Amino acid sequence: MTDRLAPHQIARAAALLRAGELVAFPTETVYGLGGDATNDRAVAAIFAAKDRPHVNPLIVHLPGAAEARGLVVFDARAEQLAARFWPGPLTLVLPRRADCPVSLLAGAGLDSLGVRVPAHPVALELLRAVGRPIAAPSANRSGRLSPTDATHVLAELDGRIAAVLDAGPCAIGIESTVLDLTGTQPCLLRPGGVTAAELTALLGPLALPDHDAAPRGPGMLASHYAPTLPVRLDAVSARPDEALLGFGPDAGATLNLSPAGDPVEAAAHLFAYLRALDRPEFAGIAVMPIPELGLGAAINDRLRRAAARV
Ligand code: TXA
Ligand code: MG
Repeated sequence: MTDRLAPHQIARAAALLRAGELVAFPTETVYGLGGDATNDRAVAAIFAAKDRPHVNPLIVHLPGAAEARGLVVFDARAEQLAARFWPGPLTLVLPRRADCPVSLLAGAGLDSLGVRVPAHPVALELLRAVGRPIAAPSANRSGRLSPTDATHVLAELDGRIAAVLDAGPCAIGIESTVLDLTGTQPCLLRPGGVTAAELTALLGPLALPDHDAAPRGPGMLASHYAPTLPVRLDAVSARPDEALLGFGPDAGATLNLSPAGDPVEAAAHLFAYLRALDRPEFAGIAVMPIPELGLGAAINDRLRRAAARV
């Protein structure tokens, strides 16, 4: 059985993590499945709990940029981005320091590491209390929808992890932006909570990953973030046996991501609504078009992967 802990039980969660146990915790994006990143056994247990392929590296969470600088080599771009966006939904992929104490398994054996400082008071207090870097992928089974509340976490991981810290729903609802700074041009590996426009304003043009090259992790594979039912994109209306996930003013939607057409509101609802519609009474989920504006790009990225089913 997995314990459901209230936010005032952070000390208990921290003690479990220090003992090598797994604890799911809230961030501003989605719930993370945390384990001590310096403990090989804890990191191996994260991959096992999620059924995650070992080639897919984990993001390491820290309470501040100072702690991140102890793990990876910051350049001027990283300093600028951390000052502007941390704490917040941006993961920076940077070269590991030679003395980096993080388990090699956490980084899937790569010489880079993804680091992030989450903007959630419970996450930050937990990270400070643990005093160690915490590896945390999204707290779902591999390939499935990310969890935006503690009930989603328990639906997939009950009995596989020691505890979940429950602080209610996540404000942003879509995962962090992953930016690779190991090359000369910054490369956008995953669109997310910080928009490409915000990054371009600071850094200039971004490279996009080379999709002909070997994927760097299942997060970049076509099929991911998937409900059980088939997903049909850019639908104008639903077929009789389909659920309709709406966006903008539309009376016919089964659920509407944002009747006002606001991509920020839509991102916050995306995974919870896909879960809610993923029921045997429907034959599929039809999704109305969502403009690529702001968080719309990250929403459409997840929806395309949900629809891919390869
Ligand atoms: O918002 C988030 O980022 C959430 C919360 C819990 O922080 N975490 C999350 O982790 O979404 P995960 O494991 O579900 O997704 C991490 C993504 C994967 O696509 C992985 O391949 C990529 O980040 N990634 C991590 N480290 C990397 C590295 N060193 N090089 C390239 N990609 C990396
Ligand atoms: Mg994930």
